[in-house]
Amino acid sequence: MNRMTPPRNRVFCALDTADAEHAQRLAAALAGTVGGLKLGLEFFTANGPGGVAALRASGLPIFLDLKFHDIPNTVAGAVRAAAALGPRLLTVHAGGGGAMIAAARAAAEEGAAAAGHPRPRLLAVTVLTSLDAAALAATGVAGTLDAQVRRLARLARDAGADGAVCSPHEVAMLRDACGPDFLLVVPGVRPAWAAAQDQKRVMPPAVALAQGADLLVIGRPITGADDPAAAARRIQSELAGGA
Ligand code: C5P
Repeated sequence: MNRMTPPRNRVFCALDTADAEHAQRLAAALAGTVGGLKLGLEFFTANGPGGVAALRASGLPIFLDLKFHDIPNTVAGAVRAAAALGPRLLTVHAGGGGAMIAAARAAAEEGAAAAGHPRPRLLAVTVLTSLDAAALAATGVAGTLDAQVRRLARLARDAGADGAVCSPHEVAMLRDACGPDFLLVVPGVRPAWAAAQDQKRVMPPAVALAQGADLLVIGRPITGADDPAAAARRIQSELAGGA
């Protein structure tokens, strides 16, 4: 099976902080209220593998969002090391090309197996949602943004990626382009009661799931709340239809 069995709770909380103690407090508070934690470059660069191991001890699945992008040999080495940390999900940039993605997929299997963990699912990042059409054109891409997202997602799928990280507004398109087994992990999600902050085109969690998202990444509406666990429970109860 390619698409992982979705956890009952489909919300991964993004812990975008370099502060390991803050992350640890959030993880302890959120255990049982979210489906997992997303750790990115900010946390990892500051706290390294030891920081990841400490958060894994919370028992929550980890999405290690390090967005690798380099030559295949270097990415394979990094993915092998990352997979040994036991994450549930890992990311690479699809723009690194098919050979890089295939090398990452093989390395994810090797690294996890050597450390006795299940294989992490490999997700591709297509076009960063911080790029608009003009910024994409400035990088030399001639087609539309949607066409580029679709092209990179298919390339990633064909090279062995299990899924993609995408904007909620790309979910329906990628579900159609990449099939029912392609895992779609979606940030840019906001409950009606939360501020959009710097996210430009947000979608409520239930709508993103209805469009075909498998997992939702939600950060500041939870981490910035006075009571993060209560915010996470509120999102869960809205998703369960008990709003
Ligand atoms: O706090 P917020 O809910 O906006 O956090 C969303 C998380 O998802 C952040 O970690 C952000 O870096 C990440 N992300 C995103 N848009 C993307 C890819 C990742 O917001 N296209």
